[in-house]
Amino acid sequence: MRSAARYRDVRSTRSASLLCVLLIAVTDVRGLSNVSIDIPLAVAAGTTVNMSCKYDLQSDTLYTVKWYKQGAEFFRYVPKEMPPIGVFGELGARVVTNRSDAHRVVLKDVQPNHTGKYRCEVSGDSPSFNTVMVSGYMHVASLPNGDPQLRVEKMQYAVGDIVRGNCTVPLGNPPANVTWTVNGISVNSSFITQKVDDSQQHVIIAGLDFETMQDSYSNGKLKIMCHANVFHLYKKMAEVSLKEERPRLASVLGTRESSYVGSAAKNAAEYFYITAVTALLLCCLR
Ligand SMILES: *[C@@H]1O[C@H](CO)[C@@H](O)[C@H](O)[C@H]1NC(C)=O
Ligand SMILES: *[C@@H]1O[C@H](CO)[C@@H](O)[C@H](O)[C@H]1NC(C)=O
Ligand SMILES: *[C@@H]1O[C@H](CO)[C@@H](O)[C@H](O)[C@H]1NC(C)=O
Ligand SMILES: *[C@@H]1O[C@H](CO)[C@@H](O)[C@H](O)[C@H]1NC(C)=O
Ligand SMILES: *[C@@H]1O[C@H](CO)[C@@H](O)[C@H](O)[C@H]1NC(C)=O
Ligand SMILES: *[C@@H]1O[C@H](CO)[C@@H](O)[C@H](O)[C@H]1NC(C)=O
Ligand SMILES: *[C@@H]1O[C@H](CO)[C@@H](O)[C@H](O)[C@H]1NC(C)=O
Repeated sequence: MRSAARYRDVRSTRSASLLCVLLIAVTDVRGLSNVSIDIPLAVAAGTTVNMSCKYDLQSDTLYTVKWYKQGAEFFRYVPKEMPPIGVFGELGARVVTNRSDAHRVVLKDVQPNHTGKYRCEVSGDSPSFNTVMVSGYMHVASLPNGDPQLRVEKMQYAVGDIVRGNCTVPLGNPPANVTWTVNGISVNSSFITQKVDDSQQHVIIAGLDFETMQDSYSNGKLKIMCHANVFHLYKKMAEVSLKEERPRLASVLGTRESSYVGSAAKNAAEYFYITAVTALLLCCLR
């Protein structure tokens, strides 16, 4: 912007030479470049945060580095001033000045209301006064103060039964993402709600409503897991292992057969009895 305006001024001035215009163009190309901001995506409330702003001045000299949160300046570094660091406002009061400089800002004891967009603005000194700004977003999370609790109606289920359960996680800001897996396979929650539990704690509750099928079981077991995550900051899990309830008929048949195999028929009567029972049961199963 500035160099474009300057270019027009130069053209309108009789004494200006083409060389001068070229010189400005060359300075611009070799000036301040590669400006980037490096801030964490998410941090826990109460922690200290390193934020950095990287840039390559090339032939420019540094005029200022300014940091803004949602439009409000909270930190400034001006090498020509003494002291070079200036801080502003509530966020400025959290700057650890002896660890902050032209390339980084360290903030201590950040709070959830410090979530938002941060911008770093770098300006070169005269004659270019190049200014480049870059921004990034940081979440400050207050993490759940406890583990997820998983509850199910009962511990044994027959094929075709519906497993009903719920998972309760203390409410943080932002709320944890709660997800389910059954034997490692993702299952959607049947509901997700927030409420105040018996101990007056705000919680988030996710429901499970899972219809079991023959192939849901692995070695007669259903491993139900509830996962609660808040970014990479909180990753917890609760699990319960449920048993398959076998139909009573199959277990009767199973014991008769094994006793028959185990002892071999002692006499024709017993052999007949076992054969008759087996035939009867097979008949019933049809
Ligand atoms: C910008 O950074 C990239 C990679 O870090 C580097 O390859 C490139 O030369 C840099 N450009 C300038 C103008 O410094
Ligand atoms: C911040 O930077 C300092 C010094 O470079 C380093 O010791 C510290 O581990 C960093 N802290 C975090 C949270 O990255
Ligand atoms: C920064 O200042 C604090 C006190 O204000 C001091 O405890 C700390 O050691 C200093 N850190 C460095 C890196 O100078
Ligand atoms: C953010 O919250 C803290 C307390 O949690 C408070 O001291 C501070 O004034 C708040 N800052 C803003 C900008 O609202
Ligand atoms: C959670 O599951 C338990 C056990 O099945 C049940 O008593 C309770 O009512 C459920 N709560 C909700 C909110 O679904
Ligand atoms: C789970 O939810 C997602 C998104 O809401 C949906 O796309 C997907 O089909 C659901 N899966 C099942 C098995 O219902
Ligand atoms: C929850 O999951 C979504 C989708 O994966 C993700 O974009 C979001 O950042 C997560 N939120 C938290 C608090 O971890």
